[in-house]
Amino acid sequence: MFRLTPKNYSDDVEAKLQQYKKQGYKLPSRRILRTEEQLAGIRASAAINTALLDFISGQIKEGMSTAEIDHLVYAFTTDHDAIPAPFLFEGFPKSVCTSINDVVCHGIPDTKEFLRNGDIINVDVSTIYKGYFSDASRMFLIGEVSPEMQRLVQVTRECRDIGVQTAQPWAQLGDVGAAIQEHAEQNGYSVVRDLTGHGVGIQFHEDPDVNHFGKRGTGMLIVPGMTFTIEPMINMGTHKVFVDEANGWTVCTDDGLPSAQWESMILITETGNEVLTE
Ligand code: CO
Repeated sequence: MFRLTPKNYSDDVEAKLQQYKKQGYKLPSRRILRTEEQLAGIRASAAINTALLDFISGQIKEGMSTAEIDHLVYAFTTDHDAIPAPFLFEGFPKSVCTSINDVVCHGIPDTKEFLRNGDIINVDVSTIYKGYFSDASRMFLIGEVSPEMQRLVQVTRECRDIGVQTAQPWAQLGDVGAAIQEHAEQNGYSVVRDLTGHGVGIQFHEDPDVNHFGKRGTGMLIVPGMTFTIEPMINMGTHKVFVDEANGWTVCTDDGLPSAQWESMILITETGNEVLTE
């Protein structure tokens, strides 16, 4: 039995793809260009994910344990008939990543870890709703944060926003990475190389990888219908990181200096892009 699935790109997009292919550009597989039906599901998932981060931003405070954040995420998500995507993903033990100060990403919530005055924390939430995936993270400042760390958080947010602005249809992924890297380095910071943004929507992590550094005029062509994250991790010192061997997940800066991250998920349209989560 054959079932015709609706084509997920217009004739106009197909014609442009053929043109670019002749010129030798690296094209995304047609499979990662979303259908309208898929987009409806992805948008519904993204709406829950954004509401969850809004909820967390109203609850997070000094003295709270990161395990409490995990409980809030689990309760809110399941109350909305959704599933926290990180939970048991490749063995990850909790529903959210909570990454404090020199932790770059994949911090694991813990009953013995408390938010202290002066901390910066990234809360990274991902949601599965009716089989569709969404992903975003924000930074939160706990109490009185040093001006140096506030500036890192602010510039990292700008890096994310510049990346989103640069991710236009028929640009290339290298353009996005270059724009982010320039802004980070102009401000005296470095870009983490070992972790990337990623396609998301039908699965948690799919093609393409989205580097937050690179060269203009290189990398995969950005095509209407793609959904992917832009989630730069920006370090105050070295870009080098290591994975905590005790749990196999938590990524920390090599020099112990702070790191920040902001993450959005976007849809590339024929005229620009649409921010799905932030
Ligand atoms: Co992500």
